[in-house]
Amino acid sequence: MKKIGFIGMGNMARAIVRGVLAVHAAQPEDLSAYAPHFDRLSAFAGETGIYPCRSAGELLERSDTVVMAVKPYVVEGVLAQIREALAGKALLSVVAGYTFDRYRPLVGDGVRVQYVMPNTPCMVGAGVLLFEEKHSLLPEERAEAMRLFRALGEVVELDAHLMDAATAISGCGPAFVAMMIEALADAGVKYGLTRALAYRLAAQTALGTGKMQLETGMIPAAIKDGVCSPRGTTIRGVEALEANGMRHAFMEAVKATIEK
Ligand SMILES: NC(=O)c1ccc[n+]([C@@H]2O[C@H](COP(=O)([O-])OP(=O)(O)OC[C@H]3O[C@@H](n4cnc5c(N)ncnc54)[C@H](OP(=O)(O)O)[C@@H]3O)[C@@H](O)[C@H]2O)c1
Repeated sequence: MKKIGFIGMGNMARAIVRGVLAVHAAQPEDLSAYAPHFDRLSAFAGETGIYPCRSAGELLERSDTVVMAVKPYVVEGVLAQIREALAGKALLSVVAGYTFDRYRPLVGDGVRVQYVMPNTPCMVGAGVLLFEEKHSLLPEERAEAMRLFRALGEVVELDAHLMDAATAISGCGPAFVAMMIEALADAGVKYGLTRALAYRLAAQTALGTGKMQLETGMIPAAIKDGVCSPRGTTIRGVEALEANGMRHAFMEAVKATIEK
């Protein structure tokens, strides 16, 4: 197995590491990471068994493939520091908005690049991983990257022009879905459920509804119709959600992430 090094070990990189280790898609000794706060990094390394590096240079010496997992505003500064050491390696980047064409002038032709947009449910093997179709990995490197990421969830290949829209749904989506679960649970608490039970019911219902849609292929409207009997209670709730702009709120949320 090739050695993989993470630059940045925050929420997203941790979700990836936890996900691949949970299903043994990689062994801890194959993984290294560098992040500026060494104490925080070494605590996570102690928990997972990955190797914590004291510098980006050390990380590059230990890695065949580098996963760039820092915030977008630090990418160019990081690349400037590691440009020479990165030559000849494969770079998998999960940085939102850094497509293949955006990377090319920053790293030169000597670095083989793949833009991947994961989401945090990778942590539990139920993620979505958007792979940009345009890349410069060798065929065996791309196959290996896909094998690794398939262990974390569903891999979807997309043209660059669709990456932003897809990122809004699957990359940002866990925040929107979590807010929906929280809001539904708040309503349950208002009517007497304990907080823990309300979360459990709301989260399991979100999970089950998604699973039902994926496994049966029923369109969401058919799932909704199946719960709404004539003069029943659910259709009243549907009316209340529409009257309060639920659909428009989701449209606006996605628009806000795309039209920054
Ligand atoms: N969170 C998500 O749901 C999600 C989903 C898809 C894609 N992404 C992408 O993943 C990337 C990281 O997001 P995140 O949510 O994981 O952010 P985060 O939790 O803030 O983590 C950022 C990491 O970058 C490290 N870092 C900061 N400056 C650095 C430098 N100069 N050199 C090396 N490492 C540095 C930080 O180190 P310290 O901890 O030491 O400060 C931290 O480990 C972003 O580009 C984002 O677009 C995130």
